[in-house]
Amino acid sequence: MPEVVRLDAPLGARIEGLERSQALSTDVAALLDRALADHLLVVIPGAPMTPEQTRDLSLAFGEPRPQLLRRKRANDVPEVSLMVSTLMTDGTTDKTVYRAEDWHTDDSYFEIPAKATLLHSIEIPGRGGATWFCNMHSVYDALPEATRRHIEGRRAIHGYDTPRARSRPAPRSPQETAETPDVEHPLVRTHPVTGRKGLYLNPNRLDRIVGLPRAESDALLDELTEEARKPKHHHGHVWRKGDVVVWDNRATMHRVVNDYPENEPRIMHRVLLKGERPV
Ligand SMILES: [Fe+2]
Repeated sequence: MPEVVRLDAPLGARIEGLERSQALSTDVAALLDRALADHLLVVIPGAPMTPEQTRDLSLAFGEPRPQLLRRKRANDVPEVSLMVSTLMTDGTTDKTVYRAEDWHTDDSYFEIPAKATLLHSIEIPGRGGATWFCNMHSVYDALPEATRRHIEGRRAIHGYDTPRARSRPAPRSPQETAETPDVEHPLVRTHPVTGRKGLYLNPNRLDRIVGLPRAESDALLDELTEEARKPKHHHGHVWRKGDVVVWDNRATMHRVVNDYPENEPRIMHRVLLKGERPV
């Protein structure tokens, strides 16, 4: 059996001794999925894979979901997105790259957001481009008792775009727009596997708290986000080519640092795993 080695960090574990092709055996898949819930981030080192192999490995963590934006689908595998985050000097850098610079959790603008995201590095720049992760259980635990009481039971509106985000998302087609109306989620979320409470924030998508005037909602969201921005809740993953990194969107946020050299390819495969309605 592979070994789950906890990182010396606020979240994360490294999976050692895993033959990726064996990840779908019942025992190994259960171990990987449990490691994800316990550590919120798992790193599986190895060599670059085909989109089919990436999709197959993702099955250990659940059911992969087709990519919303059709043009981003990798080859003929609808569950695998080709994410090109190369910084282009000719101005053609994918807008998502800039959006990903701020803290977010993937997919919170869906009624049933992705449980987890799998990212697999195909090409990485010579330096920089780390992905940072934030443990939202520890953020919740660090809030003052009065704040925790104040937000208990409150709900919040997430949308594809919000004026609170620092930059605008990629445009949607009419069909894609119809598939993504605004949704409401609890502000405090209980992890369905571990039962731990976490703050369910997303500065890129979270527009307002239900039942509060805009100014009060903004102030409270700013206060909560400020706690989440503290480095004591964070761990940065420095990529090696071929890494598979899976994070738990139910209790983490992440961001990328765009400090890597221009025109050096940064290409990833991404799979979103189907989740459950946040409670
Ligand atoms: Fe993301």
